Amino acid sequence: MPQEEIEQKEKKIQKLKGANEETNKYTRAAFRIMQQYDLEWTEDEDYEGDWYVALEGDTVVGGCIVEEKDGQMWMYDLAVLPSKKRQGIGRRLVNRVLKDHGEIHLTSTADGQMFYRKLIDEGRNIVLH
Ligand SMILES: CC(C)(COP(=O)(O)OP(=O)(O)OC[C@H]1O[C@@H](n2cnc3c(N)ncnc32)[C@H](O)[C@@H]1OP(=O)(O)O)[C@@H](O)C(=O)NCCC(=O)NCCS
Repeated sequence: MPQEEIEQKEKKIQKLKGANEETNKYTRAAFRIMQQYDLEWTEDEDYEGDWYVALEGDTVVGGCIVEEKDGQMWMYDLAVLPSKKRQGIGRRLVNRVLKDHGEIHLTSTADGQMFYRKLIDEGRNIVLH
């Protein structure tokens, strides 16, 4: 089949304001992805902060949570579906959050170190704690 005939699923990053009935489907799916990893902050689903999800068609393939703490914007639990890693989804999620907030703060897992180092090298305003 010629390349152009292969249907490409639409990819987009969407910001969900809090967890409510309308957004629960997406936040739950993102939460399940986060739970696949040993992430410090993923304890329960009821975060106060803003959820950002990466969608491929209607399927959640990644997500993160952004919450204000002491006047700083902190990003928690960035996670991409294992089968979807290294396709630029994590980078797009971070770019989207940085569009809303000029600077983001975070602590990184071992898995995230190389990723964040790369993004900081590229000039993104990320403060690693
Ligand atoms: C960290 C994570 C979110 C990165 O998401 P991703 O979608 O795979 O990352 P991207 O494809 O956007 O990567 C962007 C760049 O970061 C670098 N990078 C990403 N993962 C890397 C890795 N494991 N090793 C080395 N460099 C890496 C690469 O330079 C990459 O660009 P390239 O693929 O063109 O070389 C993902 O690996 C993940 O979900 N990990 C498990 C959960 C976790 O630990 N999250 C961090 C919480 S702080």
